[in-house]
Amino acid sequence: MAQHDRTTFSVGGELAVHRMGFGALRLTGPGYWGPPDDREKAIGIARLAVDLGVSFIDTADSYGLGSSEEVLAEALRPYPGDLLIATKAGQCRPGPDRWVPLGRPEYLRQQAELSLRRLGLDRIDLFQLHRIDPKVPAAEQFGALKELQDEGKIRHIGLSKVTVEELEEAREQITVASVQNLYNLTDRHNDEMVDYCEKHSIAFIAWLPIARGELAAEGSPVTAIAAELGATPGQVALAWLLHRSPVVIPIPGTSSPTHLKENVAASDLVLSDDQLARLDALG
Ligand SMILES: NC(=O)c1ccc[n+]([C@@H]2O[C@H](COP(=O)([O-])OP(=O)(O)OC[C@H]3O[C@@H](n4cnc5c(N)ncnc54)[C@H](OP(=O)(O)O)[C@@H]3O)[C@@H](O)[C@H]2O)c1
Repeated sequence: MAQHDRTTFSVGGELAVHRMGFGALRLTGPGYWGPPDDREKAIGIARLAVDLGVSFIDTADSYGLGSSEEVLAEALRPYPGDLLIATKAGQCRPGPDRWVPLGRPEYLRQQAELSLRRLGLDRIDLFQLHRIDPKVPAAEQFGALKELQDEGKIRHIGLSKVTVEELEEAREQITVASVQNLYNLTDRHNDEMVDYCEKHSIAFIAWLPIARGELAAEGSPVTAIAAELGATPGQVALAWLLHRSPVVIPIPGTSSPTHLKENVAASDLVLSDDQLARLDALG
């Protein structure tokens, strides 16, 4: 049996989290623009995630223009000691479903301050640059994060949607604890990045881990393997990510308690070498 290596990963070498995380993008309203239509349900989802053992939650200032962070704070404060809430800045929101990179250093600083207020924290454990803004020198954006870190407002720095070249450039200036890039069973264009992160003990936070639900839906390419395991296709897709590398932290998003339970339970799924080989071949 090819059991995945570890159930936890230490972000920045010190903050141990369960590797099956939760993405809080969907704790927002239509177009990810405002508060969720059903606030109590969103609060219930966040609490259920933590009750089920999730200790890594990903959010952003831009998710619902702050609503996702507000829901998390209302649901989870006082925060459990082992919970890591990772947030991001660097995308502004001119309207529903619209995202525009904005990496001016003063804007990143303002957004960090707003996230601290909304989350009710003195320090953000993991603060990610949501996008490198091509209109602003990258060194200025990394420098803004470094300043926030030096001042104790953020603990670790992460980057999102970056290439290996961009990551290497950043690492000349800052210590990067995590990379958050798109990665799932059928979209492997970040394979090289996963390997790079593993080599350097950097967390690889996989977004769209079930391809916006496609890998869990009817007709999923993993239906047969799911049947062999008595699991759901979504669980197989998530289990494959955990087997792929010990630095991968999938952050499936859901607004359904049933799906949330299913996703967390995927951590216990053990894939055989044969199943792994067949899943690897789907890439
Ligand atoms: N860094 C970035 O630029 C970036 C970009 C996008 C996303 N993200 C992060 O990645 C997280 C995940 O992304 P995502 O939510 O867009 O994609 P995802 O996790 O791949 O897919 C979520 C979709 O799958 C469905 N789903 C979830 N679990 C399921 C299950 N067990 N069975 C069937 N369907 C299921 C959800 O619907 P239900 O609500 O019905 O369960 C939802 O429609 C976000 O929350 C966010 O934190 C980051």
